Amino acid sequence: AKNVGILAFDIYFPPTCVQQEALEAHDGASKGKYTIGLGQDCMAFCSEVEDVISMSLTVVSSLLEKYGIDPKQIGRLEVGSETVIDKSKSIKTFLMQIFEKYGNTDIEGVDSTNACYGGTAALFNCVNWVESSSWDGRYGLVVCTDSAVYAEGPARPTGGAAAIAMLIGPDAPIAFESKLRGSYMAHAYDFYKPDLASEYPVVDGKLSQTCYLMAVDACYKHLSQKYEKLEGKPFTIKDAEYFVFHSPYNKLVQKSFARLVFNDYLNDPSSADEVAKEKLGPFATLTGDESYQSRDLEKASQLVAKPLYDAKVQPTTLVPKQVGNMYTASIYAAFISLIHNKHSTLAGKRVILFSYGSGLTATMFSLQMHDGQGPFSLSNIAKVLDVAGKLKSRHEFPPEKFVEVLKLMEHRYGAKEFVTSKDTSHLSPGTYYLTEVDSKYRRFYEKK
Ligand code: ACO
Repeated sequence: AKNVGILAFDIYFPPTCVQQEALEAHDGASKGKYTIGLGQDCMAFCSEVEDVISMSLTVVSSLLEKYGIDPKQIGRLEVGSETVIDKSKSIKTFLMQIFEKYGNTDIEGVDSTNACYGGTAALFNCVNWVESSSWDGRYGLVVCTDSAVYAEGPARPTGGAAAIAMLIGPDAPIAFESKLRGSYMAHAYDFYKPDLASEYPVVDGKLSQTCYLMAVDACYKHLSQKYEKLEGKPFTIKDAEYFVFHSPYNKLVQKSFARLVFNDYLNDPSSADEVAKEKLGPFATLTGDESYQSRDLEKASQLVAKPLYDAKVQPTTLVPKQVGNMYTASIYAAFISLIHNKHSTLAGKRVILFSYGSGLTATMFSLQMHDGQGPFSLSNIAKVLDVAGKLKSRHEFPPEKFVEVLKLMEHRYGAKEFVTSKDTSHLSPGTYYLTEVDSKYRRFYEKK
């Protein structure tokens, strides 16, 4: 199989959302902290009738329908998620309800979990399957689904919710350059979920930022080394058209890209322009550790990176800024923003993605874009995604209502024997929703 990669995309995020500006005021944070400080505009959240299972049911059935895929043509289904609903039964098995109806129970794959990285693990599994001798000629399907909620406090505005589905196969418009990857995996307690009775993570915000930036540097270095082996010259930012980052909040994406600019400068100061030389020169002698702590370097590199950021990163930021951190789905929501903004003009371009999951696991990898054919063309994918339409038809809730929903969900997490309100007034037709959890913890869903 050649040009294995992503043939089709769909995204679903709950229509229920809260404006960051309103949340800022409600939380008593200083004006601009969430919107400018974190760089976020709005945040989606699951109401009591939605969860990671309903969102994934919605997005999978929508993708199959919109691209005209026969459910029998799926041979592998992999899910990435860090939202634990059951410690044994995978989310994948819930999705089998869609395929059983069509008599297809011959589908490999289960769930992958490591914070926000699970979706990337699932994607690599599917791509590797199509490239392997066990491939049976059918499509792979990858689902990333998460509801990111935090306890009251500074992390709460960095929540979000969404599910993404990706169809995997050969001759893809979004093809893997499988040789061009760099990973960084280590042991850290930056963000984890040790309390199985709570949906909320334990998070060391500052440490998680530093771990993320260290992973950016290490992955970039590993990817560059592999590129140099293949191409005989070092990789620089100029070698890719766009850079897509896992996006917990936009400010961290700005800082990450600035790190790449700083890396390029350190690797070859002589080829930097005069502004970069003047602004970044003073930081060239910092040790790695010092460089993560230096606020001055952070500011200087962001300033130097700004024009490049506007060209190579800004077009990837819309959905994460509007929907928030979607954990496993975040990086692919950023990528979807790029398709939404640039669609067919992406053909022939290279896009670099950086996936990060706390704990920690990270990979930087490369995609080569092609026009694609029929339903699997970049322009059709952009049309099916309908990002603008989906963003426009949302319902804003006041922060008080958002807090109320989160309180209710705290009680419902891990609970049994309840029925939901079944209020689907905000959901569009075709959306799955939770109706009941019975006395044996079994969950029941319906489709609007
Ligand atoms: N106007 C403009 N900017 C402001 C204002 C204001 N009124 N107030 C603060 N800011 C800026 C700060 O200067 C800072 O920006 P800077 O870093 O560029 O200087 C930014 O807003 C955030 O302010 P902090 O005081 O650093 O925020 P705080 O520590 O309260 O919380 C944090 C931020 C740590 C990110 C928190 O939201 C969190 O823990 N989130 C979850 C962890 C996370 O997402 N980590 C990322 C990787 S792991 C993962 O993906 C889950």
